[in-house]
Amino acid sequence: MPTALITGITGQDGSYLAEFLLSQGYQVVGMVRRSSTVTFERIQHIQDAVTIAQGDLHDQSSLVSLIETYRPDEVYNLAAQSFVPTSWSQPVLTGEATALGVTRLLEAIRLVNPKTRFYQASSSEMFGKVREVPQRETTPFYPRSPYGVAKVYGHMITVNYRESYDLFAVSGILFNHESPRRGLEFVTRKITYGAARIKLGLATELRLGNLEARRDWGFAGDYVRGMWMMLQQDAPEDYVLGTGVTHSVREFCELAFAHLGLDYRQYVVQDPRFFRPAEVDLLVADPSKARQKLGWQPTISFEELVKMMVEADLKRVSQEIA
Ligand code: NAP
Ligand code: GDD
Repeated sequence: MPTALITGITGQDGSYLAEFLLSQGYQVVGMVRRSSTVTFERIQHIQDAVTIAQGDLHDQSSLVSLIETYRPDEVYNLAAQSFVPTSWSQPVLTGEATALGVTRLLEAIRLVNPKTRFYQASSSEMFGKVREVPQRETTPFYPRSPYGVAKVYGHMITVNYRESYDLFAVSGILFNHESPRRGLEFVTRKITYGAARIKLGLATELRLGNLEARRDWGFAGDYVRGMWMMLQQDAPEDYVLGTGVTHSVREFCELAFAHLGLDYRQYVVQDPRFFRPAEVDLLVADPSKARQKLGWQPTISFEELVKMMVEADLKRVSQEIA
């Protein structure tokens, strides 16, 4: 039975990846950081099937100790300070976790067991002020936030350790992927949760920032399968995962509210508080390498994703008030 270590198992992707690896027959070890409250909401249903181990990307010895104790065959580094606006208010912390945290984990692997296969959660946010449309593996990076800058560091240190030490280390450059488990502060969940609250009479408006930004949105469950596929190849290479289709935040609002029989224009208010100091205006993937080499394809369309998220939030909010 292979063993996989997931950092960030309590996050959106970590929870889907853990489910997927369990279904593939893996022993799953999930790294969690110390917290005064329980953060296991997304993995409650599989908590008995996974091993939870304490560790933190800020703490080198905890990472060494995890690799020594569990000797994982595969490590998926999903942990990060992942919310872009927070990266302007906490740029140093973002750099510590999202950038240097990658080096700490790679060092632990290099020192303890360099045969471990390593996945780094790189991001389309690295393309930022895009140099070409659509974006592929060779598109130059131009990050627009401290988060994007930190991810470029994490990406390049992964490439560097692969080339310097011959590690099986790969980066998946993933475009935005969402689900009913998405954090409430990200725009898709903010919209579907907000629309459900309006529908049920708990709110009268939804305050958002830039409605014209465009993203390539897919379903998180599809993307974690792609992460695993990257580590099953003969040679370590980097891959872009995305749908190849782009929509604006406005279009997401329109569809989400319409699914509840509402007109978003009556409820959505633009609020300067949610605009960013520097914006990423347009992201759209060219996922042809992943399709050709991995055989990876997304299975959920934009319309299906919006519907899935709206219905999940309508159910959740209804239960909250019942
Ligand atoms: P998420 O829901 O925000 O989860 C982040 C995870 O990282 C949480 O489990 C969090 O733990 C953990 N974490 C944060 N700082 C840590 C630290 N110092 N030590 C240990 N754990 C720490 O993010 P996600 O959407 O699942 O994304 C997973 C990864 O993919 C992230 O690296 C993100 O930057 C990257 N990515 C995401 C997308 C996307 O669209 N979702 C696209 C491209 C790349 P707590 O529960 O304790 O907070
Ligand atoms: N969060 C948020 N809140 N975003 C808003 C709002 C709002 O009220 N109003 C408009 N937006 C716009 C943002 O300006 C951005 O252009 C877009 O919606 C998407 O924002 P987020 O959902 O916060 O995601 P992100 O694209 O910045 O970052 C996510 O995707 C990256 C991959 O490209 C995160 O998951 C990152 O961790 C990930 O790397």
